[in-house]
Amino acid sequence: MNPNVRPDSMERISTPELANAFIAEQIAAIREQVGDKKVLLALSGGVDSSVVAALLIKAIGKQLVCVHVNHGLMRKGESEDVIRVFGEQMDANLVYIDATDRYLDLLAGVSEPERKRKIIGEEFIKIFDEEAAKQEGISFLAQGTIYPDILESKGVKAHHNVGGLPEEMDMELVEPLKLLFKDEVRVVGEALGLPHSMVYRQPFPGPGLGVRCLGAITRDRLNALREADAILREEFDNNGLNHVWQYFIAVPDFKSVGVKDGKRYEGWPAIIRAVNTVDAMTATIEEIPYAVLHRITDRITHEVPGINRVCLDLTPKPIGTIEWE
Ligand code: XMP
Repeated sequence: MNPNVRPDSMERISTPELANAFIAEQIAAIREQVGDKKVLLALSGGVDSSVVAALLIKAIGKQLVCVHVNHGLMRKGESEDVIRVFGEQMDANLVYIDATDRYLDLLAGVSEPERKRKIIGEEFIKIFDEEAAKQEGISFLAQGTIYPDILESKGVKAHHNVGGLPEEMDMELVEPLKLLFKDEVRVVGEALGLPHSMVYRQPFPGPGLGVRCLGAITRDRLNALREADAILREEFDNNGLNHVWQYFIAVPDFKSVGVKDGKRYEGWPAIIRAVNTVDAMTATIEEIPYAVLHRITDRITHEVPGINRVCLDLTPKPIGTIEWE
């Protein structure tokens, strides 16, 4: 039997009972595979790596070493959530690396999107490698591979996955979710006690806000983007819009003229993008009520220094991709 093929007989995990049975089965399998050895995991805080972490913590406790690299391009509060949930609540063996300066220094002046992606991806591998070398006696590498990654090795995630790990890291893999679909991973995550917001988190690209701070990233514009994005998310939560598949702010690298307190006030525009899709290959636009748009505009222009306009992207995919770069 090919371990990378989901057997026809495998039931879809849709209830807490089925999730608990899966968890019990995987705990036994992980303990059997790992024994008393140590396992390393890159924990981004995304759904898949978070569920793998929670499962492994349950199976092998502190034999799991989670490494969270904050590249400085996370959304507001995300690294803090990882520390709170895994470091504090689950008492995991968590190594937190704040690599913000390292990334932003490397990215300074780089405007070409694929070059930005490459730098972000390569630096991640370097940092992860450095950390792996510091840890003694690691024998396994855990990964949040899920079934669609195996099915569509040319799919969105594999294609885009800049957070990929070094192939030369010659370690046996632990991939407990590799036969699960995303909806099943979420049911398992909730059964493991992860917060709903983490388990139902919208997809977030590996390069993070780096591809939404358009052109060459600067710290002030990145901060403005992060704050505006947090307001957008808060208002989507408050107004029953958080079912939307992906929604975010992009901030271009040019300013327009505005006026504030009777004085000229130049600022960047914040562009709202909110799309629905099944597989990210095509996408339609969410029709955000005007009252909500007005509130978001009002808050962003008043609360975020540096932003003086709010624009709405109405472009479906195709012709626009979901991200701006
Ligand atoms: P596009 O912009 O190609 O995006 O329509 C489709 C989906 O992929 C995500 N995306 C990325 N994910 N690394 C990632 O991990 C990337 O470099 C990347 N670029 C786009 C995007 O957010 C959307 O969900």
